[in-house]
Parts: sequence; structure tokens; C-alpha cells
Amino acid sequence: MHAFGFDLRHRRPPPLLNVHDYECAARRRLPAMVREYIDGGADDLATLTKNREAFTRWEFRPRILTGTQKPDLATTVAGIDLDLPVLLAPVGLSGLAHWRGDVAAARAAERRGTRHILSTASSWTIEEVAAATAKGHFFQLYPHSGETAATLMKRAWNAGNRMMMVTADYPMRGNREGERRTGMGPPPVLTPGTALRLCRHPAWTYRALRHGRIPARNLVEGSGVSAAVQSVEIQDRHLSQSTLTWDDLGWLRDTWPGRFYVKGVLTPEDADKAAALGLDGIVVSNHGGRQLDFSPATLDVLPEIVTAVGNRNTEILLDGGIRRGTDVVKALALGARAVLIGRPYLYGLAVASEKGVTRVLDILREEIERTLTLLGAPSIHNLTPTHLRPSPQTGEDDR
Ligand SMILES: Cc1cc2nc3c(=O)[nH]c(=O)nc-3n(C[C@H](O)[C@H](O)[C@H](O)COP(=O)(O)O)c2cc1C
Repeated sequence: MHAFGFDLRHRRPPPLLNVHDYECAARRRLPAMVREYIDGGADDLATLTKNREAFTRWEFRPRILTGTQKPDLATTVAGIDLDLPVLLAPVGLSGLAHWRGDVAAARAAERRGTRHILSTASSWTIEEVAAATAKGHFFQLYPHSGETAATLMKRAWNAGNRMMMVTADYPMRGNREGERRTGMGPPPVLTPGTALRLCRHPAWTYRALRHGRIPARNLVEGSGVSAAVQSVEIQDRHLSQSTLTWDDLGWLRDTWPGRFYVKGVLTPEDADKAAALGLDGIVVSNHGGRQLDFSPATLDVLPEIVTAVGNRNTEILLDGGIRRGTDVVKALALGARAVLIGRPYLYGLAVASEKGVTRVLDILREEIERTLTLLGAPSIHNLTPTHLRPSPQTGEDDR
């Protein structure tokens, strides 16, 4: 049957063309409590929203007739060659998105010439991820106590991780009310309402119970429901680090033989301290808007942080709100060496496990290449702030 030239017999689901499509498809597959865990943010979600809005405040200044064909996306982070300037951010309990969680993500990153940063609160252990991958990935540490930190660092090094990223914006858990409302906790609670919501997603629930890949396996042994509950409580007991200081960070840096990064920098003062300590890198991050609400959008503070670090050898990475290749190019033009994505790859994971994460990385690669070609920039290394200008609606003129 034809109508207006369209063949109505083949009604295939629409293709997933971009990260937003993956986000919608992932939402349909996940129970409400998991959706809230992934998508939610702190308090009034101001920072979560700002992270995205910040990218709309810049527009491009394309150059014509530059003869740019296939732009160069290769770079290095922590001395490791990467085929594209996008890494997979550390994400706790990624087994909630899909039971193959960290293993699928790390394998997808490897297939696409980049790296996955394994969270302390991962659903697969450091050793399991190492066994399932060929290359050394990166490890993110929540250094709760000296003993836990030392043990995790030793395990990470022995498993082949050569980059350590300490997350420093988690002195306590942010207030995520959506998680509490849907029963995600902490700790998770099984009410009749939660049970009903889980029943609406039998495939997810079956796989979660069968594979038991929800707990933070580096910290909890076991795989049953009680371990899953326990594992979310762990975020308070083991991951919060209210007493951590710059001295402790210096100690951790001296203990770790490889490259050392700190994640969660939002001010030039802290960026300066990190560079003065001789850290190899910082991640400009507000934890995806999940910790302190009304902390600034990461893109907004990037320029002042780049200035504060100056020409010291401290690499600057950025995360928060990256959903498009244009976002990546804007962050790089403002001085980031590479970016991290969190939720975008969880959407890929939820939709199609390793293949889904690979596809999300492919989409971003295609979008970055297209953006650079249209911008007339032959390589990510040629990008400078001169490729951007403030968007007129929000720029200096209108303020
Ligand atoms: C579900 C979820 C869990 C996270 N868990 C961790 C974690 O264990 N360690 C960490 O350093 N950051 C964690 N983050 C923050 C991410 O590393 C990253 O900073 C953030 O997701 C970037 O924002 P985006 O999701 O908009 O890309 C988590 C983020 C999400 C969405």
C-alpha cells in the first residue's frame, strides 16, 4: 500500500541516529528507578540543566575554502594514543543499564580506539574487566580510607591500569530526590509500587536477577538482591570522602606509579593547586549535575581553568552534558584535550550492550568529523577559541 509515495508495509522502528534517540530508546527499556539513577541529578537539577545549556551559548565561526577532507581526530591522553578525543567516564553500578555493564563498555571503547575509566563502584571487578579486554584501561578511585585506597590501587595496577583518576567531588552523596522517590534509595526499598514498576520491565528484571550484576563488585562480594541493596548503601560508607585533603591527594599521587588525574575541578584555584602538585591531569566535572546543585556548567568554567593551568603539563579533560559531536568540538576549541561521556554510553549499553556503546561512539565520531569538515578545521589540534563566538541571544551584547 502506498500513500504519498511512502510504502506503508514496512514499518520498521525508526533508526537511532543520535545520542538523543538512544536516550529515548533506553528509557523505554529501563524501570523507573534505574531511569532516575541514570538521568537524575541533585536537588532542583539546575546544574544538570546548565551543563547542556552551556553548549548552546556558543556558535561556530566556520572558515571556507580550507580544503579540509578527512579531519584528524587522534590524540593522546595520559600518554596513551587514542583514535578519538572521547573517553567513557567512570560510572558506578553500570550493570543497572545492562548486566554486561563495564565489560561491554570497556570492550566497545577498545574496539573504537579509546578507553573506559572503571569506577570504584563498578558492577564488574577490576580483574574481570582486565580479563575481558586486551589493553590497559583507566581506573577511578574513591579513596575512602588509606587501606581501601591502597588495596584498590594495587589491584588496579596489577590488572594493567596505568592511569588513576581520583574523584574529589564526593565528600557526601548529592541529594537525588528522584532516586529516593522511585525506591532507588539509598538504600533501595522494595515497596509494592517498586515491585509493580519492575514487573512492567520483565526482561530487565529477569536479566538483573539472573546475572546479579548490580552490586559494586570491587567492594561487595555476592550477587543476590541483598548484595545489591548493600552495594548502594556502600556509596555512603565507602565512596564518600569528607575528610580528604590536598595532602592526601599528594600522598595518593606519590603512591601510584602511573599517570594521576583528579576529577571534579570547577575553579581556577583548584586547577592551580592540581597543576602545582604536578598532577598529570584534571577533569573539569560537576559529576554530571549529581552532586552540588548550582555548581557551574563545566563548559562555562573551562576557559578560566585553561588560563589558570597555563603551559604546565597538566592535561585538561571535561565532562558534563556532551551529547553531540558539536559539543565535543566546542569543548576542545575552548581548551579541553579530550572529553568524557557518562550517560550517552549508558544509553547505548541499555539498548544493545557492547554494540550499543560502540554505535554511540561511532555516532560521536561521525558528528565530530562532520563538524570539523564543515568548520574548515583539518584536525582537532587546530581548534582554538577563534573557531567560536558567543551566541547572540546570550552573548555579551545582550547582557
Ligand atoms: C549513573 C551515573 C553513575 C556515576 N558514577 C560515577 C562514579 O562511580 N564515579 C565518578 O567519578 N563519577 C560517576 N559519575 C559521573 C560521571 O563520571 C561523569 O562525570 C558524568 O556522567 C558526566 O556527565 P554526562 O553524564 O552528562 O556525560 C556517574 C554518573 C552517572 C550518570
